[in-house]
Amino acid sequence: MCNVLVTKKLPGNWIDYLKRECNVTLWEDIYPPPKEWILNNIEDKDGILITLTEKIDKEIIDRAKNLKVISTYSVGYDHIDIKYAKSRGIIVTYTPEVLTDATADLVFGLILAVARRICEGDSLIRKGEWKTSWYPTFMLGTEVHGKTLGIIGMGRIGKALVKRAKGFDMRIIYNSRRKHEEVDAEHVDLDYLLENSDYVVITVDLNESTYHLINEDRLKKMKRSAFLINASRGQVVDEKALIKALQEGWIKGAGLDVFEIEPLPKDSPLLKLNNVVLTPHLGSATVETREKMAEIAVKNLLLVLKGEKPIYEVQ
Ligand code: DGY
Repeated sequence: MCNVLVTKKLPGNWIDYLKRECNVTLWEDIYPPPKEWILNNIEDKDGILITLTEKIDKEIIDRAKNLKVISTYSVGYDHIDIKYAKSRGIIVTYTPEVLTDATADLVFGLILAVARRICEGDSLIRKGEWKTSWYPTFMLGTEVHGKTLGIIGMGRIGKALVKRAKGFDMRIIYNSRRKHEEVDAEHVDLDYLLENSDYVVITVDLNESTYHLINEDRLKKMKRSAFLINASRGQVVDEKALIKALQEGWIKGAGLDVFEIEPLPKDSPLLKLNNVVLTPHLGSATVETREKMAEIAVKNLLLVLKGEKPIYEVQ
């Protein structure tokens, strides 16, 4: 029987499924295991199933003498030293596709929430501050339909956003390394996108070239009436610059599901701003999607251990 390390409990019965095939060492807590725990347990393991909160670096890979597969329960893999894993012949697998629609739905939720001031309205009622029943200038927001959506990156989530934006009669522009002929939207350069979008949505992966892609200069290029939406990785945005932009009105607002440090520190100035909607990294957080991710992460791992091709391998 193979030996595997699993760093989080998963929804559904997928850990039991794995236990029928392998000896499983499981970290039971919802808090990520300390690196020491991984180092102390990885030596004899054939596989490891992790989530995005576990950083797999050279030190861990070097300690893992038998490791054949790193299966991450995520679409992002910026927490894994992919180059080094590959150089050691270790296959890295991930869980794309199944979370595309859930994440695109959340992005639209953030757009609507921040533009139409949904969270502000909710908290106003709860605080007992809804004083007058209705008047023409009360809590006016910004329209979404008919506006320009600028998508940075045109992968699976970008394409799912295009579909949704069509339903809102939006003009859709996007920036990505190449033009996607199959996508019914205009391919534009990044400056044009920033200068012309009402909603700028980030969908790129985090890597060396996208770290702080949205910085002070680029925020200054956006319209003062525009909103920034991020549900990819916090580090794609220079958060300090974004806070300044929101405080000083270079842009109108932001919808953020991801942050440079997660959980968001309690003293983050973002918490004091009314023009942001914040969610705690919920992009893929639906029962259906998280169970599908568990199925794929477990099956990816088992397929590699059986010497077969996994469903999704990081290339
Ligand atoms: C991922 O999978 O990388 C998302 O950030 C969380 O589901």
